[in-house]
Amino acid sequence: MAARILSGKPIAEAIKAEVAEEVIRLQAQGVRPGLAVVRVGDDPASAVYVGSKVKTSEELGIKSEHIHLPATASHNEVIGIVRELNLRDDIDGILVQLPLPPQVDASAVLEAIDPRKDVDGFHPINVGRLSLGEKALAPCTPTGVIEILKRSDIPIAGKHAVIVGRSNIVGKPMAMLFLKENATVTICHSRTADLPSVTRQADILVAAIGRAGFIRGEHIREGATVVDVGINNVSDLDFAAELFAPEDMEKRLKAIENRGFTLVGDVNPREAAEKASSFTPVPGGVGLLTVAMLMKNTVEAAKMRREV
Ligand code: GUN
Repeated sequence: MAARILSGKPIAEAIKAEVAEEVIRLQAQGVRPGLAVVRVGDDPASAVYVGSKVKTSEELGIKSEHIHLPATASHNEVIGIVRELNLRDDIDGILVQLPLPPQVDASAVLEAIDPRKDVDGFHPINVGRLSLGEKALAPCTPTGVIEILKRSDIPIAGKHAVIVGRSNIVGKPMAMLFLKENATVTICHSRTADLPSVTRQADILVAAIGRAGFIRGEHIREGATVVDVGINNVSDLDFAAELFAPEDMEKRLKAIENRGFTLVGDVNPREAAEKASSFTPVPGGVGLLTVAMLMKNTVEAAKMRREV
């Protein structure tokens, strides 16, 4: 049977529509949620992500502010900006785009954010609350994964969720969210012995490793749900031919010709389509949810802090 493609677009649109409604309700009470996005330097991927966050805020009626510092900004300058934003009543959410340049201590910057405004959910207070199962602002990519599964009627409770990748942004919070949903959880990483034998136990397999097409057919149990969190650029034509079915190759080749690369997740999509019962595409899967969940967190943060 052909695998079901779990498209992120309709789900992201539904969440954004719910957020826009909530913004209208808040505005009737005199509250306009505000998001500040801080970007340091000129990482091209960060510029794209931040642009999308600012644009989506505006579409939903959330006030947004983009603060762009040069790559040479000092640690103290970045901390100073965060502290100013902490004090502003019109700012409900503060997001510092990662990665930061080496002279800036990223952990210290994330810890300087007022936990009530920490819409990325990276502050130790929110990480702690999430792991205690308490109400917390939680990281947007893993909460987006849960939304895709729930809104696609894929059961989580009692299922074995296997996560490949142990980052603070995706892997670890993903595990906490699956536990909250009563899944059995395994986290794998680069030192896991015999990875395919572990990932083949997954009812739900989440790939968040950062390596193009790393998860192959041998990693996937027949009938599993595969969630691909990766976003990688592939420019090699032979490698692209290994990743995509012949019918998908034409548009991929065009992308490589026109922009020099095509976007690929951490899963080999051709092999996933043969083994999985459902899987998320790249692009057009989890990535779209991340921005939608950031908007949702911003409105949540506004409601909690302003008690409306
Ligand atoms: N860089 C890559 N992903 C993220 C994210 O979710 N939040 C922030 N702030 N930076 C990132």
